[in-house]
Amino acid sequence: MRLPSETDEAPAPSRRALLFGGAATVAGAATGFALGSASSIATAAPAGEPLHGQETVAFHGLRQPGIETPAPAFVSFVGMNLLLPADAGMDEEREVLRRVLKLISADAARLMSGRGILADTEPELATNPARLTVTAGLGPRAVKLMNPALVPAWLKDLEPFQMDRLDKAWGQSDLVLQICGDDRMSLAHAARAILKDLRPVASRSWIQDGFRHSRGSQDQAATMRNLFGQLDGSGNPQGEMLERTLWGGEGLEPWVPGGTSLVLRRIEMDLDAWDHVDRPGRDFTLGRSQDSGAPLSGGGEFDSPDLQATDALGLPVVSPDSHVARSQAREADEKILRRGYNYLEGGSAGLLFASYQCDVSRQFLPIQRRLAAVDMLNEWTTPIGSAVYAILPGCVDGSYLGKELFAV
Ligand code: HEM
Repeated sequence: MRLPSETDEAPAPSRRALLFGGAATVAGAATGFALGSASSIATAAPAGEPLHGQETVAFHGLRQPGIETPAPAFVSFVGMNLLLPADAGMDEEREVLRRVLKLISADAARLMSGRGILADTEPELATNPARLTVTAGLGPRAVKLMNPALVPAWLKDLEPFQMDRLDKAWGQSDLVLQICGDDRMSLAHAARAILKDLRPVASRSWIQDGFRHSRGSQDQAATMRNLFGQLDGSGNPQGEMLERTLWGGEGLEPWVPGGTSLVLRRIEMDLDAWDHVDRPGRDFTLGRSQDSGAPLSGGGEFDSPDLQATDALGLPVVSPDSHVARSQAREADEKILRRGYNYLEGGSAGLLFASYQCDVSRQFLPIQRRLAAVDMLNEWTTPIGSAVYAILPGCVDGSYLGKELFAV
């Protein structure tokens, strides 16, 4: 489904209803995307200044929103740990998790549609969801509690890599919420409202805030830039390849149907040292042009680098040690969806590297191992946080995330 572009004229409700209204339920299930009230956009926006606050993404569906959904401007990743009573048995602990997932599901459905949560003290802050999405994932302890038979082999700490300088402050948690949106206000409210609601059953272990280009500052379909100035995301899988990457297919199984996985790495980027690298050096390190994103072997931004291409001296045009040469897939299934955000906080800058894939071991790990062994970019990047989550399937209206997966 096409997103409304910044240049769209305010459409007559009938046209928009035709385009989005009738299709919303079906498309919502497939892509998680639906539009809010068209008339509020048309009446509130002065000509030439479209407002986006009323745009909504559907919470309910077979798959969770916030993965294939086009990435909005801001993210808050919220890590939480379950508050399990000291003397509780397994059944009681499992009920705590069930309660958490019921609350998250109810809150997310309301907030994503522009309503405050039940007993919200600031429901006014929920009225501009601006493509708000809430996506929930579980860490190893939570999946084990839910159903020990379902814990996937890849759901554990990644092996240590030589360039890691991991800080436990950004480490594994029982739960993660990826909350995205174009309005920093409604996003901040959503994160706080959910955390407040969960207070008796889960406590916050960290929040990682990130940003991309502001909505309206450039074409929505354009690839984001990271803080090194590079176009970041050009090589992401598309179409059928994306479908298989995230949700699996023959020979590539998700941990449960409609589920997938998230690897979240906080990677610090040394912007001051990067300042000293000249443009040819930057392009050589990456294997693509910083300016256009095109591979050094030629073509456009969305073309794959040709690792066999040589210059007049017979030397490879794309260095085999460059980031793209090292990260390019060696096996067909070595594909991941990178949906990261930039961060800038207290003098530290970098990337909230968020990668979605069906199977961490088969898709993410071979790439990460190659990059850890050799990648010229490593000189300026340092992973300081790391966590892995099983992303739950979506849920239908009236149900809650994970309901069918509980052992009892
Ligand atoms: C701060 C750290 C990182 C930065 C700044 C960075 C930046 C980039 C950039 C600019 C590109 C080229 C454009 C594109 O295809 O998106 C790229 C490609 C890619 N990166 Fe990274 N990256 C980082 C870390 C990682 C990590 C940790 C992984 C996986 C373990 C990874 C996997 C990939 C893959 C798979 C590609 C596409 C390769 C292809 O098929 O052409 N990157 N990255």
